[in-house]
Amino acid sequence: MTARIIDGKQVASAVHDEVAAGVAEFKKKHDAVPGLTVVLIGDDPASHSYVKGKERACEKVGIRTETIRHDSSITQKALIEIVEGLNADPQVNGILVQLPLPDHLDGDAVIHAIDPMKDVDGLHPENAGLLMLGQPRFAPATPLGVQRMLVEQNVDMKGAKVVIVGRSKLVGMPLTALLLQKGVGANSTVTVCHTGTKDIGAETRRADVLIAATGYPGTITTDMIKPGAVIIDVGVSRVDDATRKRGYRLTGDVDFEGASEVASAITPVPGGVGPMTISMLLVNVLHAAELAVSN
Ligand code: GUN
Repeated sequence: MTARIIDGKQVASAVHDEVAAGVAEFKKKHDAVPGLTVVLIGDDPASHSYVKGKERACEKVGIRTETIRHDSSITQKALIEIVEGLNADPQVNGILVQLPLPDHLDGDAVIHAIDPMKDVDGLHPENAGLLMLGQPRFAPATPLGVQRMLVEQNVDMKGAKVVIVGRSKLVGMPLTALLLQKGVGANSTVTVCHTGTKDIGAETRRADVLIAATGYPGTITTDMIKPGAVIIDVGVSRVDDATRKRGYRLTGDVDFEGASEVASAITPVPGGVGPMTISMLLVNVLHAAELAVSN
């Protein structure tokens, strides 16, 4: 079997069009522009590159965007004050503190300081709790993007055996909550594998839909995949590659070549989940702006 390649850029572009139309309508109706502020601390090259992508996407769909950059010498107190200032600014509908933060900062405390109504990352305990209870307000963008891709691919998720490898706060945990809910693109039977799992392959070989989100290249090898499974690769890692001009290439968690021979469909890295993360962030920002005017 040669797997169908799921084109994240194409799905993301359709979502961008929807958001652009929603933003135009919002402007007409409320004479205001939805706004996202990103807080970027330190000089992690991958984080800088992700934030650039977010800025560009906002500009394309008409969302006002600003990035507050600071070097890693910033104190916890100063960072919390920045967040509190954004909470109080009515022009700011969405706040995103790019993660990971430098080691001396307490990321959880910073996320907890964000007004939950502006938490477009869906990481504040109030939003994470609402998602767990099946009453989502803001769900994290990457899980939303994965779900949207599966819906667009007409993957029947009701009753599907889904195995998620990785239990991070940004992906594995919220994706589990999303796919457990009743409704379109969900209602699945979800298993989560992690570093405590005894035999990950035994679990993944049962998966109709296998979602890899560990950030470790080579986590999923061909022998771990059930023939005909749908593979979603959330991992993005930089590996050294002297043949590339920039000296590295991006790779996912899955052995793409091998998996393509066994799976029925697979997301590439890059060009799979990554573009979807950005588009679902835009959806969340527009949603935040709509919630702000409805209050
Ligand atoms: N770092 C990598 N992905 C994300 C994300 O979705 N949100 C935030 N805040 N930081 C990230």
